[in-house]
Parts: sequence; structure tokens; C-alpha cells
Amino acid sequence: MTLNSPIGIYDSGLGGLTVWREVRRLLPRESLVYLGDGKHCPYGSRPRAEIARLADAAVGRLVAEGCKLIVVACNTATAAAIDLLRAKYAPLPIVGMEPAVKPACLATRSGVVGVLATERSLDGDLFRRTAARYGRNVEVLTVPGRGFVELVEADREDTPEAEACVRAAVEEMLARGADQIVLGCTHYPFLMPVLERVVAGRGVTVIDPSPAVARRVVQLLDEHGLRAAADREPQYRFLTFAGEQYLSRLEKKAMQSLG
Ligand code: DGL
Repeated sequence: MTLNSPIGIYDSGLGGLTVWREVRRLLPRESLVYLGDGKHCPYGSRPRAEIARLADAAVGRLVAEGCKLIVVACNTATAAAIDLLRAKYAPLPIVGMEPAVKPACLATRSGVVGVLATERSLDGDLFRRTAARYGRNVEVLTVPGRGFVELVEADREDTPEAEACVRAAVEEMLARGADQIVLGCTHYPFLMPVLERVVAGRGVTVIDPSPAVARRVVQLLDEHGLRAAADREPQYRFLTFAGEQYLSRLEKKAMQSLG
């Protein structure tokens, strides 16, 4: 492992690319290896122990690639396994996803915040602890984004079907006056155009936590003195546990995500 070793970014599938693009934007000299499991996606309603095993296998693979820092760009895997991963791979710095409940609770004027995430993230300790800590005087409404991950994985995030799915998920939050909606799954920012259409004119802010996660990566690289050389040409590689076809979809989606 050297300063020019890559940063590893992992998700159950394509969703972590929303974090990958922010890390790439903030750290243009850093090489990145993205691992999108693909074979076991979606993780969202699998048992916690199984998700922890999958996350361990993925992080183990990125460690074998010589990564100097790893981002678990999956809320579900973070909720199931972040403590275990940090203990097993110490002293390797590992960044997890934080549900952006804190900024939402600080920003709300209506006192009602909505959170969209997978079932397994919402029933995890990480989410419960964060909501209890920051949501004391705020009503935090949680709704699983049913079908959201599947829509993104199938490249169907800008379809009438996606709009219907998103509308059904946020209906109650809007009716109860939520003015902040937190995206607690890294797949969901791909649905941002649809989400913004659905909440248009309702005075709602949709919060994508990936820029904050990318800033945390910068902070940790600096703390550990791990920045790549300033004249470094970065390399971007992609890995998957699914087949060749998934790999090309991953690469294509990554390029599209850059806009
Ligand atoms: N991107 C993952 C997350 O942030 C999706 C989980 C899944 O595969 O269901 O939670």
C-alpha cells in the first residue's frame, strides 16, 4: 500500500456510484476502485447476518486490491456491519454512510422530517441512535423506498412507474407536513429528478448525504496523510461479483452519473 494506492468504494450494486462521483469530484487526483456486488443486490430485506457476511467479502476483496481507505457506500451494509469491518480491518480507515438525519433536523421549519431508506437500514441501531440523538423535538417519519433499488438497478429511474412508486412512498410524509426528506440509501439519489418533480411546489428539501460522505473521505485522507501525489493521473476501475454484463452496466452508469 502506497500513497498512490486507490480508494475502494463498495455498494450492493449501482447505488454507491452516487458517492463515487462525489469522491471523484472532490479528489480528482485519487484513483478509485468501485466494487458493486450485483450478484446479491438488493440487500435491503436480507437478514442482518447475511448482509454482514456479504459486506465482509466485499471489503476483503478491496483490501486485496491494496486500497488505502474504503468507503462502504451502502447504508444497509453500514448499518449491518460497520463496527465489525472496522475492527477486522484496523487500522485501515473505513468510512460508512451516516443517515443525514442531523442536517434535516437542524433545517426543518415544520418540525417534520421524512427519511427514505431500505427496511434493514431503518430497523438498525445506527438509524435508531441517530434519530434519537438529533430528532428529539422533531417528528421523524420513516418509510422504506419499496421498489426504488430495483428501479435503479434496471435503469428505470426516470419512468412513469418510478414516479408512481416515489409518489406512493412520500405521500404520507407530505400530508403530515415534512419539509425535509432524507435519502438514506445510496441508490435513491438516482431518483432525484423524479423526487423533485413529485415534491415540486411543496417547499421540501431533499437531502442527498453523498457530498458530506465525500468530505469525510477528504478529512480522513488528510488525517492519515494518505493523499496521492499532486501530479498523479488517477485510474478508475470497476469490479463486481456478478458477470461481465453487469460490469459493463456499472461502467456505463458511472460515466452517465458524471452528467
Ligand atoms: N445502496 C444500498 C443502500 O444504501 C442499497 C441496499 C440494497 O441493495 O437494498 O442501502
